[in-house]
Amino acid sequence: TGKFTYDPGFLSTASCNSKITYIDGDKGELLYRGYPIEQLATNCDFLETCYLLLNGDLPNQSQKDEFVNRVTNHTMVNEQMQFFLRGFRRDAHPMAVLTGLVGALSAFYHDSTDINNPEHRKVAAIRLIAKMPTLVAMAYKYSIGQPFIYPKNDLSYAGNFLRMMFATPCEEYKVNPVLERAMDRIFTLHADHEQNASTSTVRLCGSSGTNPFAAIAAGVACLWGPAHGGANEACLNMLEEIQAMGGISKVGEFMEKVKDKNSGVRLMGFGHRVYKNYDPRAKLMQETCNEVLAELGLENDPLFALAKKLEQIALEDDYFVQRKLYPNVDFYSGIVQRAIGIPVPLFTAIFALARTVGWIAQLDEMIGDPEYKIGRPRQLFVGAEKRDVAPIAKR
Ligand code: CMC
Repeated sequence: TGKFTYDPGFLSTASCNSKITYIDGDKGELLYRGYPIEQLATNCDFLETCYLLLNGDLPNQSQKDEFVNRVTNHTMVNEQMQFFLRGFRRDAHPMAVLTGLVGALSAFYHDSTDINNPEHRKVAAIRLIAKMPTLVAMAYKYSIGQPFIYPKNDLSYAGNFLRMMFATPCEEYKVNPVLERAMDRIFTLHADHEQNASTSTVRLCGSSGTNPFAAIAAGVACLWGPAHGGANEACLNMLEEIQAMGGISKVGEFMEKVKDKNSGVRLMGFGHRVYKNYDPRAKLMQETCNEVLAELGLENDPLFALAKKLEQIALEDDYFVQRKLYPNVDFYSGIVQRAIGIPVPLFTAIFALARTVGWIAQLDEMIGDPEYKIGRPRQLFVGAEKRDVAPIAKR
């Protein structure tokens, strides 16, 4: 079989050339189109970051105005989507619902979305960025039995999302600027991360020439898993479990379980395939966590104290040091979202909302690459040798 290289988990296979996102895992550095994530998360908003990822550079004011205008023109979804949504049980997991809703968009825009047409891809990108917050908020409102809140286009992208999530028709809703900024930062930090599992899924799916909305739905499905986007939900569940066991006094006991390979327990929100240093997004998220908790008067939040304690112990413990395990973006993002009032099962859906721009930018880059081919990994066959079928009575 020596013809193919065996590389399970693609630890050393580059599947494409890409100009979008650069990660130096040893240094803990993340750049979108050359710009450090710290600067983007501090000086730009999410829609500027979307423009950057899609177009290769940051917009000037008039380019930004036009882009924002285009996005806000597409924030509503077809009313028929409500009927599709109503087919789900109310207690369905939001990621199951979102996988379905995004997949369903392909039915609405199939004829007008040829993946090989660059103009069609551009419109699909705008539609997806514009509609994801609407879909996530609809899934939430449906799960709690409240009326859907339609988008309000004079609000910011993050402000509109918060309003669709938390407003009711009964009273005025005022967007809290600190929470709006925090939400926007969560979106920016999750916008792209080169060839991770869900992005590779979107590329592979799109490489067959499928409908782009269907390719993004595949990305949503992949992101759901606890080793990927589902880690923020798993991390918060873990913190709540330790809290229920007795809180900070039980951290040592929990860490022993994590280090015991037979327990199957991992410290969620820790470790990364690429970062062998502090995930730069985790630092920014911790900053945002401090701001949000202070704004809401939750400085003494026991889960935040617990997370900080776990981090402190892990950063000094040989097990984590030797394996270069550091907090990743998901370690603090759950605490921020919970403080904002977002229910835990919705965390990964918000990650999907934010990552949509990365997926579509990567898909666009792939289709535009003259060297692109349908993705078709090979295998090392380790099964039975050629043999003859015996009659059923003799098997
Ligand atoms: N807790 C305890 N041990 C760990 C952890 C952890 N969170 N992560 C890795 N290890 C150990 C692992 O057991 C292995 O030990 P050994 O060499 O003794 O067998 C070693 O560290 C290397 O781990 P690996 O699983 O081979 O590394 P990987 O690159 O395949 O996995 C990972 C990366 C992110 C899946 C893994 O670190 C993990 O499961 N972390 C927890 C889940 C998590 O937080 N995921 C979010 C990733 S960031 C957001 C995103 O990309 O979606």
